[in-house]
Amino acid sequence: MAITAKRCACRLVLEQQHKFFRQLARSCYLKVKEEFKNLDYETESEYTFKYSDLQTTLCDPSQLRQKPEVADLKFGHIFTDHMFKVSYHKDLGGWQKPHVGPFENIELHPAAKVLHYAIELFEGMKAYRGADGRIRVFRPDLNMHRMNNSAESAGLPTFDGNELIKCINRLIVVDQEWVPHYESSSLYIRPTLIGTDGTLGVMSSNSALLYTILCPVGHYFGGAVRLFADPAFTRAWPGGCGDRKMGANYGPTIRVNQMAQRHGCQQTLWLYGKEQQITEAGTMNIFLFYVNELGERVLATPPLNGLILPGIIRQSVIEICEEWGDFRIEERPVTMDEMIKLVRKNRLLEMFGTGTACTICPVDSIYYKGQLIRIPTVEQKLPLFVKIRKRLLAIQYGHIEHPWAVPIE
Ligand SMILES: Cc1ncc(COP(=O)(O)O)c(C=O)c1O
Repeated sequence: MAITAKRCACRLVLEQQHKFFRQLARSCYLKVKEEFKNLDYETESEYTFKYSDLQTTLCDPSQLRQKPEVADLKFGHIFTDHMFKVSYHKDLGGWQKPHVGPFENIELHPAAKVLHYAIELFEGMKAYRGADGRIRVFRPDLNMHRMNNSAESAGLPTFDGNELIKCINRLIVVDQEWVPHYESSSLYIRPTLIGTDGTLGVMSSNSALLYTILCPVGHYFGGAVRLFADPAFTRAWPGGCGDRKMGANYGPTIRVNQMAQRHGCQQTLWLYGKEQQITEAGTMNIFLFYVNELGERVLATPPLNGLILPGIIRQSVIEICEEWGDFRIEERPVTMDEMIKLVRKNRLLEMFGTGTACTICPVDSIYYKGQLIRIPTVEQKLPLFVKIRKRLLAIQYGHIEHPWAVPIE
């Protein structure tokens, strides 16, 4: 509990700091705007694009594509009829007018920064059609906050997250018939920001494109997964950008994932450092539910120390469990050694990954140094992961009215 109270206090301080710096940034911006008001370019767009400027061009009815059967949905393979786009050009005063239009290929200069230096970032969020027919998006404000953090790290322009949420909502309304009508599926939302300057040289991009595409997806309940853990590989390091959702973090994981597959594993359990800290599982945050030496039940997850992506589902799981108050919650480093000891003493009850794509995914084994460590996650009578998953789905599909599920008007 002491740890939870400390974390709350830290979060409060960080939130206050964040508020302070946003206010400072805003007041600096207003000051600059005042000083430059006689110049003939539009300084307002330097700061953000505006939903009120959004223009929509609908597809010709002949361009509308056939919607797939829910059973045929494969993650990220089928896209809706429209997309959102807004470009940024420093020389033209910053953000230009946003636009919803037909889904189409984008044209890039062969030297575009995104293609050479991976100057790009993305987000992953979902819209759900509830039992009442209303479409809700899950905690979009958190995605916007994370996206702006990634943009800052990539030297790409930031923007007002509320304006992008409103533009994305408009896109979803235009393509609303693509939001699946079954609770076994949802609409995946992929906002993306790329550096488009057509110049070689590792430096920030003076032009950028922010776009959003949508794809209907099925539920990712493929059952429990086996993880591949090898301390020879690491995903993130102190002072790096493992806590940012930048494409540069994902490309280098492919080879290790291929090795994992060769060992019959579906995901990689990413380890860090001499102590082999457990950090993440594939593209999921990781949780361990165990009984400590005092006989108390504990839910532990690695802390947000720069090595870990601050997952929206991770945060939601912690907040739900804090509200239940049934067990201790600890955000602290967990090593392979500690995990193996818990397994040997039969005190590790469950291990599961969390993420927007899968919601909650149980782990049943870990392949480590040529041996298989079995985790009894799915053998529990009333597994915690099932209880949390039910709660999250009830919020997402509107069975429970909850401020995290924001209806699209
Ligand atoms: C590396 C990594 N960790 C964790 C997550 C889970 O984050 P979220 O809960 O926001 O989907 C993701 C999601 O894509 C990820 O890529």
